[in-house]
Amino acid sequence: MIRFILNSEEHAAENVSPTTTMLDYVRSHLSLTGTKEGCAEGDCGACTVVRVTDGRFEAVNACLMQIGQADGTEIITVEGLKAINGGELVPIQEAMVRGDGTQCGFCTPGFIGALFALEQSDEKISDEIIHEALAGNLCRCTGYRPIVDAARDACGKIVDYTPQMPPGRTKEHHAAGQVFHAPDKLVELTALRAAYPEAMLLSGGTDLGLLVSKEKQRPDVVIHTAHVAELQEIVETEDAITFGASVSYSRALPYIDRLYPPFAEMIRRIGSRQIRNLGTLGGNIGNASPIGDTPPCLIVLEAVLSLASQDGEREIAIEDFFLDYRKTDLLPGEVIKSICIPKLSDGQSFRTYKVSKRYDQDISAVIGAFCLTIDGDIVTDARIGFGGMAATPKRGAAMEGALIGKCWSEETAAAAGVMARQDYSPISDHRASSDYRLRVAGNLLTRLYRDLADVEETLEVVKL
Ligand SMILES: Cc1cc2nc3c(=O)[nH]c(=O)nc-3n(C[C@H](O)[C@H](O)[C@H](O)COP(=O)(O)OP(=O)(O)OC[C@H]3O[C@@H](n4cnc5c(N)ncnc54)[C@H](O)[C@@H]3O)c2cc1C
Ligand code: FES
Ligand code: FES
Repeated sequence: MIRFILNSEEHAAENVSPTTTMLDYVRSHLSLTGTKEGCAEGDCGACTVVRVTDGRFEAVNACLMQIGQADGTEIITVEGLKAINGGELVPIQEAMVRGDGTQCGFCTPGFIGALFALEQSDEKISDEIIHEALAGNLCRCTGYRPIVDAARDACGKIVDYTPQMPPGRTKEHHAAGQVFHAPDKLVELTALRAAYPEAMLLSGGTDLGLLVSKEKQRPDVVIHTAHVAELQEIVETEDAITFGASVSYSRALPYIDRLYPPFAEMIRRIGSRQIRNLGTLGGNIGNASPIGDTPPCLIVLEAVLSLASQDGEREIAIEDFFLDYRKTDLLPGEVIKSICIPKLSDGQSFRTYKVSKRYDQDISAVIGAFCLTIDGDIVTDARIGFGGMAATPKRGAAMEGALIGKCWSEETAAAAGVMARQDYSPISDHRASSDYRLRVAGNLLTRLYRDLADVEETLEVVKL
C-alpha cells in the first residue's frame, strides 16, 4: 500500500497501479480536479502540485510523477492549501485574486502551486527568481504581468505550517499486477537489478514519466532509486565533488553554483523548476540522449562514474561511457552509483553554452562545453565537448588540436571553430539543420574567446 500525507491528512492508495501518475490519481480516483492536465509531458505546469520532503516545499509536475514515488512524502494540491492556513486562502491565492492574476483559470492552480512552493522556500525572492520559478507554467490568456505582480505581493508572507510527519515507507508495493520496488540500500538495489534486468529503473521519472503519461505503458516491475542512501549522497573533498546518481538538480545546484558557475547557469535551463526538483544527474546520464545537457559538461570536466552491481563497483571516465546512439557501457545488472567531478584547478577556465530556440524550458539544438588551460598567452590544454552534434555526446579532438600550443586569440578560436566540420557530422532534424549545427558549434569558439576576454557586448539572447 502506498501511503503519504495528502492535503494534511494521511492517505493510503490501495489497489492502484503504482505507476499511475499523481495527476490521474488525484483527478480520477479522488476527484480532486483542481489539478489540471494540459500537455501531460512536463511542459505546461497546469498539473503542478507541491511535494514536501525533509521540510522542503518543491513544485513538481504531477503528470510525470508516479504515485509510487509519493510513498512516505507529503503532497499538497490546490484543494489542500486553505487547510494548511487555518481555512483561509494562502497569501499567493489572495494576491492572485486581488491582482486579477487569472482569466480562464485553467492554468491558475499550477501557478499557485509553483508560487506557493517558492514563497515557502528560504530563497531570497527577486524578480529574476520569480521568473525562474514561473518558467515551467504557461498561461495563454492572463499575461504574466499580473501573475508576477501577485508573486511580488505575496513575497515574504510565509504560511506558518509545520510539514506533517509522513507515514513510513514500504519497500515493495504489489498492485494491479505490477511490483514497485523502492529499496533504500545500494546492496538491495543491485540485487534487484540483477534479478530484474529488464525492469524500469526509475530515478526522478522526468524521462520515464512520459512512457506512462503519454505512451500509457504499464511496466510489470519498477525499481525506484530515489531512496537508496548511497545514491543520495553528496561528498565534497579538497579535489572533487561526488553526487549520488539520484541527487536532483535542485539539490545539486548550490554546490554546482559555487564550484562551476557556468554549469549551474546551464542547469537552470534544464526544463523548469518542476523538472529540476524531480530530475537527476544520474537520469540524464542513464538516458544517454545525444542532446542531454549535462554530459558534454561532465566530459570536459573529466567526471568519473562509479558503476555498481552485485559483483562490486568499477569506475569509468564519463567520456568512455557513451558508446553509440543511446548505447552505454552499462552492463546488465549495473547501475550508476555516483558521478565524481574534479574541481577546477588554477588556470583552468570552464564555460558551457546551450543553443535552443527558447531560453527556458527547451531542449538543446547544440550544447557546447569548454575547459581551457591558458598559460600566459598559450593554450596548454583544451577539452571540448558537444551535444547535438553526433549520436553521442562527443569530444572535438580536431578543435582541441587547433588550440593546444597556440597563442590564445580570436583568430585561433575562429580557426578551431572551423575544425568542427572535421570532428562532427550532425544530423538535420526539427531542432536544427546539420549545417546550422556545424556553424553554430564553430561560432561558439569565438563566443568563448569573447566571453573569456570579457568583451562588453551581448553574447546571447537573454531573458529580460
Ligand atoms: C519538460 C521536460 C524538459 C526537459 N528539459 C531537459 C533539458 O533542458 N535538458 C536535458 O538534458 N534534459 C531535459 N529533460 C529530460 C530529463 O529531465 C533529464 O534527462 C533528467 O536528468 C532525467 O532524470 P530523471 O531522474 O528524471 O530520469 P528518469 O526518467 O528516472 O530516468 C532516465 C533514464 O536514466 C536511467 N537511469 C536513471 N537512474 C539510473 C541509474 N542510477 N543508473 C542507470 N540508469 C539510470 C533510467 O533507467 C532511464 O533510462 C526534460 C524533460 C522534460 C519532461
Ligand atoms: S500537464 Fe503539462 S506539465 Fe503536466
Ligand atoms: S488564466 Fe487562462 S490560460 Fe491561464
